[in-house]
Amino acid sequence: MRMVDIIAKKRDGHALTTEEIKFFVDGYTKGDIPDYQMSSLAMAIFFQDMTDEERADLTMAMVESGDQIDLSDIKGIKVDKHSTGGVGDTTTLVLAPLVAALDIPVAKMSGRGLGHTGGTIDKLEAVEGFHVEISEDDFIKLVNEDQLAVIGQTGNLTPADKKIYALRDVTGTVNSIPLIASSIMSKKIAAGADAIVLDVKTGNGAFMKTVEDAEQLANAMVKIGNQVGRNTMAIISDMSQPLGRAIGNALELKEAIDTLKGEGPEDLTELVLTLGSQMVVLAEKAETLEEAREMLQGVIDNGKALEKFKVFLSNQGGDASVVDDPSKLPTAKYTFELPAKQSGVVSEMIANEIGIASMMLGAGRQTKEDTIDLAVGLVLNKKVGDAVEEGESLLTIYANQEDVEQVKAKLYDNITISEHGEVPTLIHEIITK
Ligand code: URA
Ligand code: CA
Repeated sequence: MRMVDIIAKKRDGHALTTEEIKFFVDGYTKGDIPDYQMSSLAMAIFFQDMTDEERADLTMAMVESGDQIDLSDIKGIKVDKHSTGGVGDTTTLVLAPLVAALDIPVAKMSGRGLGHTGGTIDKLEAVEGFHVEISEDDFIKLVNEDQLAVIGQTGNLTPADKKIYALRDVTGTVNSIPLIASSIMSKKIAAGADAIVLDVKTGNGAFMKTVEDAEQLANAMVKIGNQVGRNTMAIISDMSQPLGRAIGNALELKEAIDTLKGEGPEDLTELVLTLGSQMVVLAEKAETLEEAREMLQGVIDNGKALEKFKVFLSNQGGDASVVDDPSKLPTAKYTFELPAKQSGVVSEMIANEIGIASMMLGAGRQTKEDTIDLAVGLVLNKKVGDAVEEGESLLTIYANQEDVEQVKAKLYDNITISEHGEVPTLIHEIITK
């Protein structure tokens, strides 16, 4: 087999065989196929697309390019959730204990990553003593005993994806549905999920700016998952404004605790119940989404979800008393209000720019080497659709620096107050198969 023939075949719009796909994925991972040939093929895929079979083959070839986590010693159906990423997305912190409280095993492998705030692990590390450096044996034991554990990234997962994604990044081939869908799905499958729930975000703060693009990506991923034997569902949700009210690590942890108590922001609560319902159905604990939702509401109301969160934190060395006393979380030295410059209705809060403002305070990493400040961030006092009086606080800034003028300027530039403003649709679509 020759790479040049595979490139030409795809360039001319033909479907590649399973063997051809495996050939270029393995060859590129090993270094036998050079960057210039792989980038040429990526561009041909960008223009010619891939069939459903090719997408599934590409996904599995990338899964098989490295280690796969074996969770077979964990009893029950392991359901994983993936979000395509957003600003102030506190859902995992709430969903994990919530679903685990219904006896569904949550074996979460998580990263730190770059972004406006840290990843799930950074947020959890706002709890004194909490750590994810546990052995795989302990990880599996904890999930079997208490249904929930989080471990840092282990093993050499999907090296093919790492290499191809890095190449796509510099060759104008990131924005291709078959390439994005197979990239995301390969990582979830290699991490050992039996079933997968996807939260595909849309809006200015998301990778997919329009609902149509998000729909295409969600449908592509649901198809891949189900084709390769992993039950998969998806939702398309809004990321035009930040989710919930808190953006920042300790601030989001506090928001997660509030939400587990049933006192969280409306949008975050709704999103968690929607995604959680899909997880419960995929775990075969309920027949319908409605039934699943009632079960989830039940463990919020009776305190079991919150209790599960405490057990989980202390199992991994964390001081669980923060759940009852969030003042023990890292706190910023200074707070500043951002007063509205006029009266009206908030009509826009541009999610990704507000995320950048929180990064300017130190809540997120720009490069892998950056350290993050767990205490700092933003708490929105107003959201899109809320009425506001001149001088009223739009949001509170939590900072460890005295000078936040640049941050304020950035925020003012990206919050609009008009005569009219509407609450954006939170959940655009629910895709079950
Ligand atoms: N996120 C991924 O993991 N892969 C892509 O290709 C794009 C976004
Ligand atoms: Ca939030």
